[in-house]
Amino acid sequence: MEAFSFSSFSTNTNTNTQKPSPPPCVQVSFHEPSSVGFGFGLSNSTSDLDASDPIFITDSLTLYKGRVSTYDVFGLGNSDLLPGQYEGGLKLWEGSLDLVKILYSLITQPSPSPSPSLSLKGMRVLEIGCGHALPAILAALQGASLVHFQDFNAEVLRCLTIPNVKRNLSKELPELGFFAGDWSEVHKLLLCADNENQNEDAGYDLILMAETVYDISSLNSLYDLIKKCLKKCGGAVYMAGKKYYFGVGGGTRQFIRLVQEDGMMETCMISEVTDGASNVREVWKLSYK
Ligand SMILES: C[S@@+](CC[C@H](N)C(=O)[O-])C[C@H]1O[C@@H](n2cnc3c(N)ncnc32)[C@H](O)[C@@H]1O
Repeated sequence: MEAFSFSSFSTNTNTNTQKPSPPPCVQVSFHEPSSVGFGFGLSNSTSDLDASDPIFITDSLTLYKGRVSTYDVFGLGNSDLLPGQYEGGLKLWEGSLDLVKILYSLITQPSPSPSPSLSLKGMRVLEIGCGHALPAILAALQGASLVHFQDFNAEVLRCLTIPNVKRNLSKELPELGFFAGDWSEVHKLLLCADNENQNEDAGYDLILMAETVYDISSLNSLYDLIKKCLKKCGGAVYMAGKKYYFGVGGGTRQFIRLVQEDGMMETCMISEVTDGASNVREVWKLSYK
């Protein structure tokens, strides 16, 4: 199985300090064939099943992830990200698995104690910075009615996210949408919470994100996107990430400080993961006050 542990970001040595302009915002079709990678029948791959790995989340939950190389898709060597061009979506990061495990334990915990179990049935869900999108795939498996996937790169959605969705979701599919683009612009394609009409029901019920808070320069646009898209009444964000990202400087605490200073949302840490293999990771829940 492909290793997905890491201690810090490795960036391409050609990285310029100035980020290039982001790629345009586009919607990617679920049926658009991908020319690269494991396509589960979409690509030219002859051994689709060999190109996916089972991830044993618990005894009762196994998800599958594809294997796509940054070289095949972007012509990049062994690089976790190239700022402004490729933002790490082809790799499975630990926070993504932390988030899946926490969500699954909240869903399956005995109700009513210690707190009512989480139900995703009928929810409208967005995963921001999805990459492999295992948290959003779990939401679809658990009965969400609409699931939207966002990544910086359309190539990641085509070559990895969509094949992962096809691999894991064989039965009834919820309404699906795949959107590429920078956080500062991509709200134009997503469901927006309607400020003008004060419609408290507009937007997503649930926003999921893992390992999205590493880059200090993107934290404001990420938080603005959340405020534009999260349902005002009863909406919740579950965020997984590292407390601090060595080499790039962001982290969950930086992001939570930004949210707390803004004063509009409650923040609650729901899990801390210290496995000794990586720096401390956390899962947080945010919701409007
Ligand atoms: C480190 S990867 C994490 C991928 C996945 N969530 C996981 O944990 O395996 C960061 C993700 O955030 C997205 N991302 C980072 N910066 C972004 C930006 N400025 N605008 C849009 N997406 C961005 C990338 O597309 C990428 O998928």
